[in-house]
Amino acid sequence: HKKYRPYHPINKTDRRWPNATIEHSPKWCSVDLRDGNQALIDPMTVDQKDRLFSLLVEVGFKEIEVGFPAASQTDFDFVRSLIEQNKIPDDVTIQVLTQARHDLIERTYEALKGVKQAVVHLYNSTSPTQREKVFKLDKQGIVDIAVNGAKTVKALAAGYPETHWTFQYSPESFSATEPEFAVEICNAVLAVWQPTPEQPAIINLPSTVEMTTPNVFADQIEYMHENFAYRDSVILSVHTHNDRGCAVAAAELAILAGAQRVEGTLLGNGERTGNMDIVTMAMNLYSQGIDPTLDLSGVSKIVQTIQDCTQLPVHPRHPYVGELVYTAFSGSHQDAINKCLQVQHESDHWDVAYLPIDPTDVGRSYQEVVRINSQSGKGGVAFVLEQIYGFKLPRWMQIALSKVVQKRAEGVGKEISVDEIYRVFTETFIHSAGKILNYDI
Ligand code: KIV
Ligand code: ZN
Repeated sequence: HKKYRPYHPINKTDRRWPNATIEHSPKWCSVDLRDGNQALIDPMTVDQKDRLFSLLVEVGFKEIEVGFPAASQTDFDFVRSLIEQNKIPDDVTIQVLTQARHDLIERTYEALKGVKQAVVHLYNSTSPTQREKVFKLDKQGIVDIAVNGAKTVKALAAGYPETHWTFQYSPESFSATEPEFAVEICNAVLAVWQPTPEQPAIINLPSTVEMTTPNVFADQIEYMHENFAYRDSVILSVHTHNDRGCAVAAAELAILAGAQRVEGTLLGNGERTGNMDIVTMAMNLYSQGIDPTLDLSGVSKIVQTIQDCTQLPVHPRHPYVGELVYTAFSGSHQDAINKCLQVQHESDHWDVAYLPIDPTDVGRSYQEVVRINSQSGKGGVAFVLEQIYGFKLPRWMQIALSKVVQKRAEGVGKEISVDEIYRVFTETFIHSAGKILNYDI
């Protein structure tokens, strides 16, 4: 990643905010197969889950939440097939979700029988709305649910000594929960699990519904980071949703506030407006010179697989992966990109106007960078001819050609294809060579 040493407005040796930039990648956990899946119109089949699981492994996830096996027979069968058919690489840990109910926890362990290592993810809801209106319990009643669940998780794990277990607890609706109560309930669970630095537990703090600006969520994370017990023996995780469109920003600020792990999905599928988009957050890190520890060099395969498994389209302007995000139509942008690309080889880091990353790093091409319509200028037309046909046009020819192309684009009111540009070029300079002097050049 040495190409990425972008100019940063905060001088790191003289900055006022010591935690103003993320210095290394968090641990990632994909929840595509659980939170992503539960939000789909048609939940994934075992085959689709299988295909997506393979992609997640290929991309480099080491922790993958594969389902809620006590709540869904498909999830149960999928977990069994992963284990029985030896599909989980040794360095990958699967994670499964369960509510804090004895029968569900029992069924969860049945699903996991024989697995080498796994995270058992226990949750119950903690906000005042959930306590008072949904569960009709006081705070102690909610703590009791969590503590009894934690005890069952610990007790039943002892029955499967061949597996390396990690326990995770999420106070669901954390973002709407009083921070003092969130500390109290997490501490009560941790007191049952008694994690150690060698056997840490995971505390996962979700913005189940995103309800504030990201700085407020980060303040909540910082408060937890500073106040809950067993801090050296707990991996602090966040799980953000995108209701206000800020899930990535909230996770990034949460890292600056002390979180070490981030849960999300590839391209952001998930409940309502979705989960945090791991591709966007990882590429944000990458573009700042930080190894995201995920291999995103083939985004076209990622997009195709996600679309096939979720049956949801990916927007053409989706950050880093959309069909149009490495494309410039406007003349001034095309001209600047063209000029920067001409001298990029002289630079020891990526330094191209309007292109935050090198498109080839995610498996996209330079050829799609510049496309031509009536907004385009001479630089764009010249770029296309050079990239595709290897023609280096002198400036006078660029000007003349772009005038003809622009006129044609205005006439049809649409994009002009590369073939069409080539046709205009040959018509203008070869077939009608005698008429060149008619151009104002
Ligand atoms: O969004 C959420 O709160 C969840 C929990 C179960 C972690 O998905
Ligand atoms: Zn969620």
